[in-house]
Amino acid sequence: MHNDVEKVLISTEELKRRIAELGKQISTEYAGKEILMIGVLRGAVLFMADLARAIELHVSMDFMAVSSYGAGTTSSGVVRILKDLDESIEGRHVLVVEDIIDSGLTLNYLLDNLRSRKPASIKLCTLLNKPERRKVEVNIDYNGFDVPDYFVVGYGLDYAERYRNLPYIGILKPEVYQGDE
Ligand code: IMP
Ligand code: MG
Repeated sequence: MHNDVEKVLISTEELKRRIAELGKQISTEYAGKEILMIGVLRGAVLFMADLARAIELHVSMDFMAVSSYGAGTTSSGVVRILKDLDESIEGRHVLVVEDIIDSGLTLNYLLDNLRSRKPASIKLCTLLNKPERRKVEVNIDYNGFDVPDYFVVGYGLDYAERYRNLPYIGILKPEVYQGDE
């Protein structure tokens, strides 16, 4: 375990097992369709890479980047598109892939924005969900795990751009971010 991690919340094995399940469920529910996976940079990249390999259908991938927290650990509520999609989503079956839904502000904005571009369908798949922190309602179609209200890192999730490469989801030691907020 990394020195800055207080506790492993979701192990590599648990991640693997759950992502295989999600892939199966998505493959069944989208049978006969082609999926356009839209990953929210940068946190969703590792999850999306593994989820895509668990889906037994044709998938395309595109990415968006939106501003969320900067280097801190709480949402500003301000959402800005930093990188838009490369292609049109009109008439496509869109599956938005996120690392974590916390306040819900980012995804709420993003889903509204994407819906206005007339996809054939749009669903949301998140690896983690922190229901205690929700400020706006977000309808999650596929949820990997509910997590308690701790700041978590690893498997794509960062603190100040670090820890994304940890192969598990861990709770960061508060002393790592105390004083930064
Ligand atoms: P929301 O708009 O508050 O739902 O924030 C969503 C974004 O905040 C996620 O895509 C993450 O980048 C970031 N975030 C929220 N909670 C955590 C956490 O516990 N660890 C790391 N990043 C987080
Ligand atoms: Mg982040």
